[in-house]
Amino acid sequence: MIRYEVNKAITPKQFLDILKRSGLAERRPVDDAKCIEKMIHNANLVVTAWANDKLVGIARSVTDYSYCCYLSDLAIARAFQKKGIGRELIARTQAELGPRCAIILLSAPDAVDYYPRIGLEKHSSAWVLPREKRLKNSIFLTSK
Ligand SMILES: CC(C)(COP(=O)(O)OP(=O)(O)OC[C@H]1O[C@@H](n2cnc3c(N)ncnc32)[C@H](O)[C@@H]1OP(=O)(O)O)[C@@H](O)C(=O)NCCC(=O)NCCS
Repeated sequence: MIRYEVNKAITPKQFLDILKRSGLAERRPVDDAKCIEKMIHNANLVVTAWANDKLVGIARSVTDYSYCCYLSDLAIARAFQKKGIGRELIARTQAELGPRCAIILLSAPDAVDYYPRIGLEKHSSAWVLPREKRLKNSIFLTSK
């Protein structure tokens, strides 16, 4: 049986471990311990799935609980995938949010067919400033 928890404290090691056991590790900064620690420490909505006290799934979000919720990492241990845990983690994430709050995410390539399947809508005007990129023509940046 799977048990779900909202904002139960987990360690950076447990977070790293579920990233590795799900396959998401290849797309996350797993060799940057400080970043991993901040990712788990500063997230403010973390829903987890547990089987016999073993972490088997996580939905890690940053949100204002009212208008927007960025679901950064959804990861289910390989042995537990396709059993409804991912869908349940998103449903339980949404249940923590106010009625006007949208869930926003970027899909990993392997999950592009997953999100429409469970009811998310593709947004045609989403924009990203990539980590390595800086704004063009910023007075602030050129004066530094
Ligand atoms: C993608 C992932 C989060 C899905 O979670 P899950 O618990 O395995 O999936 P669910 O059980 O919620 O699946 C719900 C439905 O989607 C389908 N599905 C699951 N993974 C899918 C995928 N990658 N592509 C398309 N459909 C998928 C399931 O078969 C199920 O279909 P059904 O409604 O007909 O039964 C999980 O497989 C995972 O952690 N993958 C590796 C990491 C990753 O890619 N994370 C996403 C980061 S954006």
